[in-house]
Amino acid sequence: MSQDILRPVRGNEIEKQAARRRTFAVISHPDAGKSTLTEALALHAKVIGTAGASSGKANRKETVSDWMQMEQDRGISISSAALQFDYRDTVINLLDTPGHADFSEDTYRVLAAVDCAVMLVDAAKGLETQTMKLFEVCKQRNLPIITVINKWDRPGLDALALMDEITERTGLLPMPLTWAVGISGDFRGVWDLRNDRFAQFKRNNAGANIAITEYFTPEQALENQGADWENAVDEAELVIDSNLAFNVDEFHAGKATPVLFSSAALNFGVKEILDALVDFAPQASPRPDVTGETRPVDAPFSGFVFKVQAGMNKAHRDHVAFIRVCSGKFERGMVVTQGRTNKSFATKYAQQVFGREREVIDEAFPGDVVGLVNASSLRVGDSLFIEQPVEFPAIPLFAPEHFQVARSKDPSKFKQFRRGIEQLEHEGVIQVLRSDIRGDQAPVLAAVGPMQFEVVQDRMEHDFNAPMRLERLPYSMARLTTLDTMPVLANVVGAEVLLRSDGEYLALFNDIWALRRIQKNYPDLVLETIGSERPQF
Ligand code: G4P
Repeated sequence: MSQDILRPVRGNEIEKQAARRRTFAVISHPDAGKSTLTEALALHAKVIGTAGASSGKANRKETVSDWMQMEQDRGISISSAALQFDYRDTVINLLDTPGHADFSEDTYRVLAAVDCAVMLVDAAKGLETQTMKLFEVCKQRNLPIITVINKWDRPGLDALALMDEITERTGLLPMPLTWAVGISGDFRGVWDLRNDRFAQFKRNNAGANIAITEYFTPEQALENQGADWENAVDEAELVIDSNLAFNVDEFHAGKATPVLFSSAALNFGVKEILDALVDFAPQASPRPDVTGETRPVDAPFSGFVFKVQAGMNKAHRDHVAFIRVCSGKFERGMVVTQGRTNKSFATKYAQQVFGREREVIDEAFPGDVVGLVNASSLRVGDSLFIEQPVEFPAIPLFAPEHFQVARSKDPSKFKQFRRGIEQLEHEGVIQVLRSDIRGDQAPVLAAVGPMQFEVVQDRMEHDFNAPMRLERLPYSMARLTTLDTMPVLANVVGAEVLLRSDGEYLALFNDIWALRRIQKNYPDLVLETIGSERPQF
């Protein structure tokens, strides 16, 4: 029933390497099991010996993806980095996304760098808010989505009800690749539809090791599992009857989503997810530039910065720019041009970074992620290339909803304060707004989620030795405007115009009522929603 993609086996070295790459991110609501699944995938690819104490978030200090003190304390993940591993004949690049909604902007940047997303759904909760928001981002970026129903080992919703919810709320047609045998809470195994066999899972060291899997023919499964097997087959066939069997074109076109069942904690169904990625997820393919032209994968090296992160751990107080390779072969030490400044620099310190693990990268191919260490001039969205110039589309900024004025606690440290704010702005940690009235001493920090302020405060104190004070402003919404609006709003209570460093003027309003009042009183003012294609997180 399945329809494997015809991968090009011919081509030059770079085309062949690009065809081997699967670059994806896991999107989910916090707690759906993203970190646990990441560990389980890595375990299957034998990157880590046993899944990091996935028994509890609080205890999981050594998990592969959480690193910053604040992340460990709160059990959230803010940083984004890439885990690379070989699986079968492919190279898998799993890009980590922040778990918390306050860092959606980071997630958006990561989604700009992947070719596919795995939407992880908690079987007991269905499609939660953050999952839906991230799904919307994927849809805008035309990213194919694989759906994984996780935590099937726990009592949860009915499988068919979950399929209905996916269809109704995402518009995607679920196409089962595996189907759970046993109701949620009694996870025996899956009907592996591609191979028409029953994969029976058994716990192995409470999920710390790869699950023991035994395979049975449908006849044997019927004998062993009886009504549970029949039920699974009936349910999956019902879905197939209404949505058609798995079809890779529909998946790539964003019309359908392959569905698999798992228990990440027990390592059940994880191999099947990896196999689906290898066999069906898009390979690294030519990426469009700002003009919409695509740069072939075997063109000279090019890539773009999707993430800049500093102070990644106490031992490495450095600054890493993460590049998604789009074309050509990256070789450590090569001299690349930064499109924005037209400056060249040598890529001597190239690393693969995931959590606290770092490894020198000597070469990379389209789809891979390279961490350039101490390339402090690089900013999110920068294009890099050799030989033929290219500019990849900018990664849009989100509409901020939280605003605070920052001031240095110690006036003698104003220099450090200014440098710190500038640096964090370049890294995309926060947006910075200024006006002549407020002056340089008191920039306005604008965030999508309030936790971003905590990161800024922490980094200012520890990385830049510039402790600061924050003072909340009453605004809750922003609109793009022009310089002409500034004098008009100067005397209006509940509104203000500030300049963002990308040259955009932002008009801030206390609330929708303040905005409507201004629109009514000054109908000619330009007040545009920020980013037509940006979801309002
Ligand atoms: P996140 O990154 O998406 O936020 O989720 P994470 O992996 O941290 O998982 C959240 C909780 O859910 C963890 O439990 C984890 O062990 C559990 N979990 C993940 N996948 C599964 C699964 O397939 N089955 C079951 N039963 N649990 C799973 P925790 O932090 O210890 O919280 P608690 O639920 O034990 O209190």
